[in-house]
Amino acid sequence: MSLKRNAKKNHLESEYKQYRKQADRARKRGHRQKAARYYRECVAVLEELAALETNNKLKKKRLELAENLASGAKQLEDGTPMSESTDSSINDSGDSQNDNSPADSRDDDKDDDKELDPSAFLKDPPDLTFADVGGMTDLKEKLKDQVIDPLARPDLYQEYDLGVVDGVLLYGPPGTGKTYITKALAGELGYNFIEAQASDITSSLVGEAADNMSDLFTVARDNQPCLLFLDEIDAIAAEREGGSNKTMSESQMISQFLTEMSDVKGEDVVVVGATNLPDEIDGAAWRRFSERIEVPPPDPPARAAILRIHLRNRPVLTEKIDWENIKSQTEGYSASDLEIIASKAARRALKEARTDDSIVPISQEHIESAIRDTESSLKAWD
Ligand SMILES: Nc1ncnc2c1ncn2[C@@H]1O[C@H](COP(=O)(O)OP(=O)(O)OP(=O)(O)O)[C@@H](O)[C@H]1O
Ligand SMILES: [Mg+2]
Repeated sequence: MSLKRNAKKNHLESEYKQYRKQADRARKRGHRQKAARYYRECVAVLEELAALETNNKLKKKRLELAENLASGAKQLEDGTPMSESTDSSINDSGDSQNDNSPADSRDDDKDDDKELDPSAFLKDPPDLTFADVGGMTDLKEKLKDQVIDPLARPDLYQEYDLGVVDGVLLYGPPGTGKTYITKALAGELGYNFIEAQASDITSSLVGEAADNMSDLFTVARDNQPCLLFLDEIDAIAAEREGGSNKTMSESQMISQFLTEMSDVKGEDVVVVGATNLPDEIDGAAWRRFSERIEVPPPDPPARAAILRIHLRNRPVLTEKIDWENIKSQTEGYSASDLEIIASKAARRALKEARTDDSIVPISQEHIESAIRDTESSLKAWD
């Protein structure tokens, strides 16, 4: 497959994931129309992916998923209860486009008794770096100072009796870039990367969640240097009211996590946890992360920088864009909303290009209409 086609596929896959996440989230919250709109966006992207796919089996899978999502969207729009078969096919086929990416094949709704294959979560260092992260200057500085530099010069830090960071907790609202910046951090460090969601680890079978946790850390240790990213850490190490009603499985998992965090000290393993719900994290787990860093919604310069990143490989007359105007119109939008706005604007320009049969650059008007047409996902969050 050509490099260009591969890059396009990767791009579409990431776009699909964003839409899918928003769609599932809206559906869970009972926002049917909004969920339907996002599922329709997923369908459009899946169809584009299918058209690029040379492997017939995968092509068919993508088209099947598109069909399921379209029918789910229709039921959401019509207000009819989702038929069981559609509901389960939306859930089951969620990420079947990404068979070699088990971290993506999670689903919050599915039965959670499972053994995990930890080695399947291991990936080479991501090819993302801080240059791909728009704005977030303070955050990048902090990570450079508090994580990258100590790891690069452990002897110097030891001289001053300052330990190397082994745990970083990133907290902030959805879509602000916690996962993205963690990948970029692994890329900057050149570390192998393991990404696991809470739902990959938890299990109602006694002992299994603790085993899953231990297995993940073992793979991280066996593949040093390694960055182990535990997403939705609040669901892994949740504080329960009164502390008394944790299930046996939860208690074992948390204590396994705490043990592993201690054992990993001195190894070339960095553990990054992420959460939207910092208040719900078990106190002991919270303290185990030596750096706790907030990832806030993007400020105006970051919003422009993030949009520029997502427009950089697309035809756009950057100098003709009124960035000040765009900064003010995107007040309250998250990074993932901005990524969606960039692709909507591109889709609009492409539509005109198809009619004109020549390249139509993305213009101010394309971007503004994409903004008008995209709701801020942070609004629903507060
Ligand atoms: N600083 C950034 N520059 C460019 N793109 C970004 C930036 N931050 C986030 N993005 C884009 O926004 C998308 C969503 O970000 P990400 O998934 O990292 O959010 P998150 O904070 O992990 O959300 P959640 O809490 O829902 O897991 C990413 O796929 C990425 O393309
Ligand atoms: Mg995330």
